[in-house]
Amino acid sequence: MMIPYRALLLIGSPKGPQSTSEALGTYLAERLQDRGLQVQKIRIHSALRTKKGIQSLFEAVDRTDILILAFPLYVDCLPAPVIRALELMARRRKSLPGRAGAGMIALVNCGFPEAYHNETALEICRSFASEANLVWLGGLSLGGGGAISGKPLDRIGAMGRNVRSALDLTAIALAEGKEVPPEAIEQMSRPLVPGWLYTLIGSAGWIHKAWRSGVLTKLNDRPYRP
Ligand SMILES: Cc1cc2nc3c(=O)[nH]c(=O)nc-3n(C[C@H](O)[C@H](O)[C@H](O)COP(=O)(O)O)c2cc1C
Repeated sequence: MMIPYRALLLIGSPKGPQSTSEALGTYLAERLQDRGLQVQKIRIHSALRTKKGIQSLFEAVDRTDILILAFPLYVDCLPAPVIRALELMARRRKSLPGRAGAGMIALVNCGFPEAYHNETALEICRSFASEANLVWLGGLSLGGGGAISGKPLDRIGAMGRNVRSALDLTAIALAEGKEVPPEAIEQMSRPLVPGWLYTLIGSAGWIHKAWRSGVLTKLNDRPYRP
């Protein structure tokens, strides 16, 4: 791939600034800016609402040297508006290929503790890159994204050490026109906290929500059971 000057960060979570997708994407964007790249950020859900938004999205994709797609896993796949955006972009880039040699990476996070749940979604992204005439530079996959819950990565302490290191390595490689290094992929896939602790905290969160909603004693109800 060429040495890049511009990157485009596409956020594919409806939670926008409060999302783990945006926390991951923003950290990588800042590291790329440290290395002299210009980075533009677009939230897909907002962009798709108007014709003007879609046109701006198209133009930003045409201009970029690296497309960074950051999104949450929804039902083992990509959120519907992200799929829609990819379909629109692929269709357009078949007639207007954009900058030759432009690359793409994906950052996906899921709610289950294991990162492997994201594999199908990353394959879909790789397939999109080939349809859209983009060089696939690799995907980073994070499990247990709820532990970050949209907090900036430099404020999550030791828990975020591997995630930050993975994104630091990725920024160095991308700025030099290289692919996402295997070491970065491996570091990102490491659990943020032990699986049992994540499940315990998650369960406590659900119980707290049930209590606040006044349905704590009804959690085992089966109203539709015949
Ligand atoms: C509609 C919906 C579907 C989801 N499906 C999955 C899933 O199939 N597997 C999974 O591990 N997490 C799933 N999750 C959890 C999200 O991937 C997880 O909460 C993620 O950290 C959200 O990231 P964000 O903050 O970037 O939006 C789902 C969440 C929602 C709202």
